[in-house]
Amino acid sequence: MALHKRISGRRSHSPLGSPLLIASLTTNFLLLYYSIALRSELFLLKSTKPILQWSENEPCDAKAVSSEFIQSKVKYHKYPEPKSPLVDSSEKFFVDVGTYDPPVTKTHAYSILYSPRNIPEKVDLVLGLKSSLKNKDRRDAIRRSYGVNSLYKGFNAKFVFLIGASADEPSSLVEDELEEHDDILFGDFVDSFHNLTFKDSMFFTWTIHNCPDVKWAFKGDDDVLVNPFGLMAFIEENSDYEEAGIWGNKLPQQPKVKKDKSGVGKKYGDDIWPEDKYPPYVSGGGLVINRKAIFALQENIKITPIIPIDDAFIGVCMRRAGLQDHVFADKRFHVWGFRPRDELKFDVCKVAETVIVHKYTPESIDCLWPKFLKHYEDCKNEEYKYVEDFPLCNPKDWHKNHPVLPPILAGPDYHHCGPKWNNSGCSTSESDWTIRKPHNGPCCSPNGYCAKNLVINHDHGVCCSKIMLESSMPYAGIFSLRMESDTSDPNKNKVFRDSSGNVEYIQEKTKEGQRIFTIKYGSYSVYGTGWYILTPEGGGLAWNVKSENSHCPVLDELEGYGGILSCPVAQH
Ligand SMILES: *[C@@H]1O[C@H](CO)[C@@H](O)[C@H](O)[C@H]1NC(C)=O
Ligand SMILES: *[C@@H]1O[C@H](CO)[C@@H](O)[C@H](O)[C@H]1NC(C)=O
Repeated sequence: MALHKRISGRRSHSPLGSPLLIASLTTNFLLLYYSIALRSELFLLKSTKPILQWSENEPCDAKAVSSEFIQSKVKYHKYPEPKSPLVDSSEKFFVDVGTYDPPVTKTHAYSILYSPRNIPEKVDLVLGLKSSLKNKDRRDAIRRSYGVNSLYKGFNAKFVFLIGASADEPSSLVEDELEEHDDILFGDFVDSFHNLTFKDSMFFTWTIHNCPDVKWAFKGDDDVLVNPFGLMAFIEENSDYEEAGIWGNKLPQQPKVKKDKSGVGKKYGDDIWPEDKYPPYVSGGGLVINRKAIFALQENIKITPIIPIDDAFIGVCMRRAGLQDHVFADKRFHVWGFRPRDELKFDVCKVAETVIVHKYTPESIDCLWPKFLKHYEDCKNEEYKYVEDFPLCNPKDWHKNHPVLPPILAGPDYHHCGPKWNNSGCSTSESDWTIRKPHNGPCCSPNGYCAKNLVINHDHGVCCSKIMLESSMPYAGIFSLRMESDTSDPNKNKVFRDSSGNVEYIQEKTKEGQRIFTIKYGSYSVYGTGWYILTPEGGGLAWNVKSENSHCPVLDELEGYGGILSCPVAQH
């Protein structure tokens, strides 16, 4: 499993802690939602169907010819021609609110009401993030993290947030923010999902007039995490590409969704675009555009009727500019997070491999960012394996759905072994870790190992003095119950118990003579309480998540974080 190699076999990286098991209920939901969102609703309007034209000497069996051939024969819908040249400026941008069917152009001018006052010289990288008045918390989290222009070493970077007017908040709200941060473009249009396209026109127009040296633009949502180092590396790799280009999560043939009053069609429905599919485009969550494409887009945006889906509109404009083959896919744009393992967005070394990841709350950016800055460079070292710091950044209340109960110190709990348990079927050899069936009794793990003379009594019953953790993780091995000297009898040791009455296990010395991990019960993780493996420095790695109807600890290797617990017990 890929994740096994995430944790160093030799050294512990402190503080330590990774969630063992993270349920993906929300992921399932997302998948469902996604599949619904993308379901095509193909209602071809007669008048808008692309026309296939064949000549005499071409093959007449449409099935026999390649899709490229068919594609080359498609006569696309006509774009309306603009009436007169449109001159935009630093303060004025254009949006065409015309239609394709019939082809009518209807261009309106909109104003940029607020914009940065001080633009550094020779800005070559402009980053535009679609935001809205109410999202100041998101903007602030970005400003505290990847939104710092100087992070983009070797570039003259400029961040701007793209905002439109809101009925609920006065536009003057941005004045103080602009005064303080000088990073807002504010246009006099209604800020809404279906008006996101306005922001493209505003962004490109402003960029061209204010950053004439621009070489690259990044555009994305205000709930993504940009990995500045990934972005710079990406640009570096593509800097030799001399033609216009746009990169991201490519949607090559996205079907248009029919407009509908409810459901998917309510948000993603489009009754303006005349074809049943959109031209190739990249997802709007985060994309990279080079200089030639910025200029080509800017030329076409103002004369092309807008459609309600802003990223698809970029594809429409690219095609209009003759650039539909210049839309490129790259795996480093995680616009859907790390489906189906969304929690990986909190794994520094996973994020280090990306350009962007969607999506983060301001709190999770605040949590992840310092760790990211501290460790992302270590990820280049193959020996280095990032282990999630404690506490975990994942704000999802995963543990609420998955309570991990404290060990029951009386009853059929795995942690108890003793005389009242029937150990038949267990091996008595310490080197023989046979499977015990059925999975019950003192060592109710699948690997119920029983050993001789290892049972120690304590107040709550009988504890295994040793447990074995089977795993490919470095914490695999044998752990011994922690003892301390008995104050009432200096010749005796007794079981150590913490203030909550819980016992601890200490890893037996490894071949190198190290003891790295201990096992302790506690509430160390946002995922809930449970048994944790700890480094001496602290941190927590939740690994024992009990299933509902079992007295057993985790019975599976779970995504590489898990371990199988065996409880060696004595024969009586
Ligand atoms: C888009 O903005 C324009 C200009 O402000 C406005 O007239 C229109 O109602 C807005 N559309 C939506 C869907 O918000
Ligand atoms: C012990 O357990 C085994 C299998 O679980 C069972 O067959 C046997 O009868 C048990 N012995 C006693 C004394 O309960």
